[in-house]
Amino acid sequence: MAEKMMNNKHIILKHYVEGYPKESDMEFKNKGSNVVILKNLYLSCDPYMRNRMSKLEGSYIQSFTPGYPITGYGVSKVLKSGDSNFQEGDLVWGMTGWEEYSIVTATQSGLFKIHDKNVPLFYYTGILDNYYFAGMPGMTAYVVGSAGTKEKVDLLKNKFGFDEAFNYKEEKDLVAALKREAVRIVLEEERLCGKLTSHFGTESGSVKGVLKTFFNSNPNVGGKMLDAVLVNMKLCGRIAVCEMISQYNLEKTEGVHNLFCLITKRIRMEGFLVSDHYHLYPKYLEMIIPQIKGGNVVYVLDIAEGFENAPNALVGLFYGCNVGKQVVMVSRE
Ligand SMILES: NC(=O)c1ccc[n+]([C@@H]2O[C@H](COP(=O)([O-])OP(=O)(O)OC[C@H]3O[C@@H](n4cnc5c(N)ncnc54)[C@H](OP(=O)(O)O)[C@@H]3O)[C@@H](O)[C@H]2O)c1
Repeated sequence: MAEKMMNNKHIILKHYVEGYPKESDMEFKNKGSNVVILKNLYLSCDPYMRNRMSKLEGSYIQSFTPGYPITGYGVSKVLKSGDSNFQEGDLVWGMTGWEEYSIVTATQSGLFKIHDKNVPLFYYTGILDNYYFAGMPGMTAYVVGSAGTKEKVDLLKNKFGFDEAFNYKEEKDLVAALKREAVRIVLEEERLCGKLTSHFGTESGSVKGVLKTFFNSNPNVGGKMLDAVLVNMKLCGRIAVCEMISQYNLEKTEGVHNLFCLITKRIRMEGFLVSDHYHLYPKYLEMIIPQIKGGNVVYVLDIAEGFENAPNALVGLFYGCNVGKQVVMVSRE
């Protein structure tokens, strides 16, 4: 396909000037450009952005550059396009600047055209972007959740269908908390099935015998929670290490103390990056959009209205201020 170019007339300085500047020191240039000019509508606040606020070396992402706008996932409207794949008026999502308007190239930004507009547009800064689909919990597992307020714990149990949940800020012993909730699940399961003896007794009548059936965790929290998960893992369980949000703001990270469990329980622990799985994104959309339209997905958003509230919304993530996916509405369109 022939590249469509956008005319971008600009003035260059031809050379360094001494004394009074002359018009002839400058020159008009007419340069074609395949950039896309965006009006930003919604910005996504994500915990990984905290890492980009530090000087990173050898990371899969780059640090933000002081003096330049922060970047992140967002939904935008195309105002002008020098890229033949995008037309004026298209709605898109991808990496954009934390600014009202951005000039991007489609490849650098990973711009996607939004085809299905019968779902709320801001869903493309969360459940419908290719970053979020990493976080979808398995549909066949028992799930124990944790959150930092009673309101969120209630949401997990009563709205999101978690089997059990607890407030990690109120627990003195996370190992015991995880164990307690898993045991609750087993007991409830057995009560419903009317077989009170099945799991107990498999390992000298201990709680350990129960837990090994259940824990298979995705500890995107790291720190003390990861240590507690390791102790509660089932034999030959798997851990996908997605992030370490509890460590981002510490001067010195806490370290992991229960790695010996990897040996005794033959656990496989592996790093996970959603970008390794982007090829599955179209399949994900195929699966999730009908589920959303059918009302089968419970999704809670926390929308901060107004660009001026973006810094506060981002910082709030690290104090647990958001209830649901944090989005900033810059403009309605
Ligand atoms: N590797 C990848 O490819 C990939 C892809 C997607 C996401 N991620 C990462 O996955 C993590 C979760 O993303 P998200 O979008 O789900 O973020 P989110 O909506 O902000 O959720 C973060 C969760 O962590 C909890 N939390 C924060 N500090 C904690 C602590 N010290 N101990 C225990 N829990 C704590 C929060 O609970 P409260 O709010 O109640 O405190 C909240 O439930 C992030 O770190 C993100 O960067 C990684």
